[in-house]
Amino acid sequence: MLNPEPLSEIETPAMIVDRDRLQQNIAQMQSLADGRGVRLRPHIKTHKCVEIAQLQLAQGALGVTASKVEEALVFIAAGVRSVTVAYPIVDRRKLARLLRGAQAHGTELRVVVDSAAGFEALTRGSQDAGTVVGAFVEVDVGLRRCGLTEHDPQLVPLARAVHENPTTKFMGLLSHAGHAYAASSREEVAAIAAEECQILQRVRQHLEKAGIPVPEVSVGSTPTVLASDSYDGITEIRPGNYVFLDRTPVRLGLATMAQVALSVVSTVVSRNDDFLIIDAGSKVLSSDLGAHGTAGVDGYGLAFTESGEQLQVVRLSEEHGFVARGGADLPIGTRLRIVPNHSCPVVNLADELVVVSDGEVVGRWRVAARGAL
Ligand SMILES: Cc1ncc(COP(=O)(O)O)c(C=O)c1O
Repeated sequence: MLNPEPLSEIETPAMIVDRDRLQQNIAQMQSLADGRGVRLRPHIKTHKCVEIAQLQLAQGALGVTASKVEEALVFIAAGVRSVTVAYPIVDRRKLARLLRGAQAHGTELRVVVDSAAGFEALTRGSQDAGTVVGAFVEVDVGLRRCGLTEHDPQLVPLARAVHENPTTKFMGLLSHAGHAYAASSREEVAAIAAEECQILQRVRQHLEKAGIPVPEVSVGSTPTVLASDSYDGITEIRPGNYVFLDRTPVRLGLATMAQVALSVVSTVVSRNDDFLIIDAGSKVLSSDLGAHGTAGVDGYGLAFTESGEQLQVVRLSEEHGFVARGGADLPIGTRLRIVPNHSCPVVNLADELVVVSDGEVVGRWRVAARGAL
């Protein structure tokens, strides 16, 4: 770009990515994975952006993780060679679309199962497509969302069924310790990460004793990955949020504000005695208080003035944000940079990410898998 646009000139609200912080976050996670001898397969649900996946792959990630089928298809079409869909697919039509996409692009595909119904859909789908699909059995390590708990009597039979079926290949165990987001300290997150490793080790040993080899053990949430010191028995990590971070890992003491790579630039459009009214409401900031329904931070985002003063976004209408004035006397037209509570849903509300470096716009990246639900 010959004449980069100054950040101060862009129209608001805008989703800003600090390129240097982004690259640093990507490099740091890769070196953390390399240092601990585990493979990195980032979750792209956070950024939904092909350019960012390419940066992650260029640094050494061996593939990506996606949540939804349509999301995965965007990255398959973009040429990512290996994709895990870490979400139970129980609808045969969705599975058929996914398998067709993977076959058309020669993509290695891995999915998860945690039920007999999911296994049934998977085997029928793989048979119809005439292919063998790699499948993890998901283990619930405490989030109480998906997966079978360690002592669930269905766990061994399901793993055996995946192992023995000619159209599925048992990849191993997969978990997501998302309950770590509700912790109140780094130590608490580290304890959850250690417990996750122990549960998975026990399940692995149990399966191996039952004659079912467990080639991979895949874990991952940004907090647990950042808080844990070692990964005994783990082969792969799947953090997503680390590329941008947000107020939640900062609250947990796992990152600093200076590392957060995503923010929303917004303009004060009106004001009254109580509030500065900004042009970013719930359709920009989302109403999310924190990942997985946690609410450890106050308000809907932390607003920074140019001089670094911090103000709380305390209420949202759809198109308006209410910033508590405190002592601030900021005129209409003032720009505020808002650090979101939870980057992932915020990005899903934007068409593009405005990439900045040193106060200048250096690129615009499409949120290609936006709305892939
Ligand atoms: C199954 C699964 N794996 C990995 C991740 C990535 O976690 P995080 O965004 O905390 O890094 C998520 C996020 O929700 C997930 O659901």
